[in-house]
Amino acid sequence: MSAAREPFDAVDVIAVKRDGGTLDTARIRWLVDAFTRGVVADEQMAAWAMAVLLNGMDRREIRDLTLAMIDSGERMSFAGLGRPTVDKHSTGGVGDKITLPLAPLVAVFGVAVPQLSGRGLGHTGGTLDKLESIPGWRPDLSPEALRAQLADVGAAICAAGADLAPADKRLYALRDTTGTVEAIPLIASSIMSKKIAEGTASLVLDVKFGSGAFLPARAQAEELARTMVELGRDAGVATVALLTDMSVPLGLTAGNAIEVEESVEVLAGGGPADVRALTVALAAEMLALAGVADADPAAALDDGRAMDVWRRMIRAQGGDPDAPLPVAAESQQVLAETDGVLATQDAKAVGVAAWRLGAGRARQGDPVQHAAGVRLHAKPGDAVRAGQPLATLLTDDADRIPRALEALEGAMSIAPAGTEVPREPLIAARIA
Ligand code: URA
Repeated sequence: MSAAREPFDAVDVIAVKRDGGTLDTARIRWLVDAFTRGVVADEQMAAWAMAVLLNGMDRREIRDLTLAMIDSGERMSFAGLGRPTVDKHSTGGVGDKITLPLAPLVAVFGVAVPQLSGRGLGHTGGTLDKLESIPGWRPDLSPEALRAQLADVGAAICAAGADLAPADKRLYALRDTTGTVEAIPLIASSIMSKKIAEGTASLVLDVKFGSGAFLPARAQAEELARTMVELGRDAGVATVALLTDMSVPLGLTAGNAIEVEESVEVLAGGGPADVRALTVALAAEMLALAGVADADPAAALDDGRAMDVWRRMIRAQGGDPDAPLPVAAESQQVLAETDGVLATQDAKAVGVAAWRLGAGRARQGDPVQHAAGVRLHAKPGDAVRAGQPLATLLTDDADRIPRALEALEGAMSIAPAGTEVPREPLIAARIA
């Protein structure tokens, strides 16, 4: 194809954003399409992404970009399923295993939850990596199998197909290597293009702030949440966001198999209070958007209904919910040096330690260790005694322990007994 037949010139389009201008719909649609066809080169798209990072985009431009990325691939539809559909997306955090108990919990109430998920990269874990620690469990479902599972079980957690917003996949990989991930218009359109293409009727977003979140500043996380809620609404997807604190890990585990184990505790009516509280809060939002009145998600955790759906969901994808989970070959405890109150427990440090122990990957496609991770033994505010374990490091490879210990240096501090430890509320705001 000759460049002369292209309606626009990539350098002109980049220059509009570079100079702080606004791009019209035709130019945005062309840019994404031409990038997908290889007419706009990677370096041109990266230059444009940097111009967006520096100069921003307005609401209409972000919507146009999102729709163009959706149109680069397939759009799924769950129409005719006979149940309302609702989905959740978290911007990612340390110990964030909420999808695991949440999807079966919401399905208890007759709502279909097509939870298309990803793998971890860097210090936040990936839902598929966690579930793959269950013997036999498979992440891949064809669109037909996904539909059948939603009709039968009501919930599925599976890998997103390559056909879902492929332009976003390419652009995200490029942003990852050019320092342009942190642009709010690009993050919002990246996440929402995949969620809208997935065909869900409604969506609840868990947007995290704090050291373990990928946008640590609360103001930025809030702006991202608002942008995504507007995008959802503009695309006809009922969308609500909760802004949640990720300065401390969620629950007492960060890893793969150990997070599955904690999720099963929550499904059995127990588990750490913060994991249960966020699961119940997100379920309530999802059920309200799906039009289910008077649902009591906490009761469905306590009486075993959510656990029943979990077991069916795991079995439907080849997994054995009763099989023992992998256990790490090596472990090392981190002990409290004094008596007192645990004052801090930095989420990012715990996430990096779990990653270095083998729970996460540095590059796409690297394998992960299913048994690796960090098990915590106290939450901030808990009384601790000198010599008591604060954390247990788990790995199959003892050589990884020193670097994980380095990551945890200064991450947990102990204040004198009786000190009041201030804590942010877990759910800081609701944006609708
Ligand atoms: N997650 C995504 O899917 N896209 C981004 O741009 C950032 C996080």
